[in-house]
Amino acid sequence: MTLSASNISWSVGAASIVDDVSLEVREGEFLGLIGPNGSGKTSLMALLSGIRKPRSGEVILDGVPIGRMGRREVARHLALVEQQAETADRITARQAVELGRTPYLGPLSPWSANDDAVVEATLENVDMAHLAGRLWHTLSGGERQRLHIGRALAQKPKILLLDEPTNHLDIGHQIGLLDLVRRQGLTVVAALHDLNHAAMFCDRIAVMQAGRLVAVGRPFEVLTAERIRDVFGVEAAIEIDIEGGCHIRFQAQSGRGGRSVSMGDGTGKRFSRS
Ligand SMILES: Nc1ncnc2c1ncn2[C@@H]1O[C@H](COP(=O)(O)OP(=O)(O)O)[C@@H](O)[C@H]1O
Ligand SMILES: [Mg+2]
Repeated sequence: MTLSASNISWSVGAASIVDDVSLEVREGEFLGLIGPNGSGKTSLMALLSGIRKPRSGEVILDGVPIGRMGRREVARHLALVEQQAETADRITARQAVELGRTPYLGPLSPWSANDDAVVEATLENVDMAHLAGRLWHTLSGGERQRLHIGRALAQKPKILLLDEPTNHLDIGHQIGLLDLVRRQGLTVVAALHDLNHAAMFCDRIAVMQAGRLVAVGRPFEVLTAERIRDVFGVEAAIEIDIEGGCHIRFQAQSGRGGRSVSMGDGTGKRFSRS
């Protein structure tokens, strides 16, 4: 199952929001999408998921232009967890996950024991089985976010699109959630704000700047001090460890003004500056 965009653009009035983006998502990879607020990450996700149609260019899902596929068909291949995914409804944790089965239900295919089994297994998978009966509004941010992922996983997609899935979570829950997502072994495209998390979890990183895709590559290729300065306007020191891991240390923009010195991480691994 492959997903690719070729020269897609989307604009509102005269404002170009997504500008001539081409991107091939590789099967099974965890692709991070980074870029400042307003750079077009959410808009690009909406185009990739087919919920928005590009002005020009095309998104291809498994060899078929996504615009020619029905919503249900797309939803059986690809699940999107939106940035402001909230639900005001009075539903339980289990019912939130059950929503993921919608693309499989119809007059000729009513809810079945298989759907129950999928929901049950998914609640276990996202560690929410013990809270299955709890009402949505009584759950914590981390629990809700696990249910959003659970709802998407219950769709049994091959491709998962996540827009800032770790927003509002503490550090433990951020790492836990990204770990959970990676364990699924799906093709993942995730808009992430934390560059160190992107470096930790992503096979490749795509960088958006003012609607354009300005870089795609492995974390250590993409996350250079020059690019972070150019795209985010922040000074950073980058350390590449001996396993190719990429660590970013941001530097204060004013104040002492000293340069950060590479000192290793205490594990005995040696760092070299890129
Ligand atoms: N429906 C819309 N109408 C007008 N402007 C929009 C719309 N959606 C997004 N934008 C604008 O497009 C730009 C990119 O937004 P967005 O895709 O949400 O960026 P990001 O997710 O990177 O923060 C922003 O300037 C935003 O205001
Ligand atoms: Mg966004």
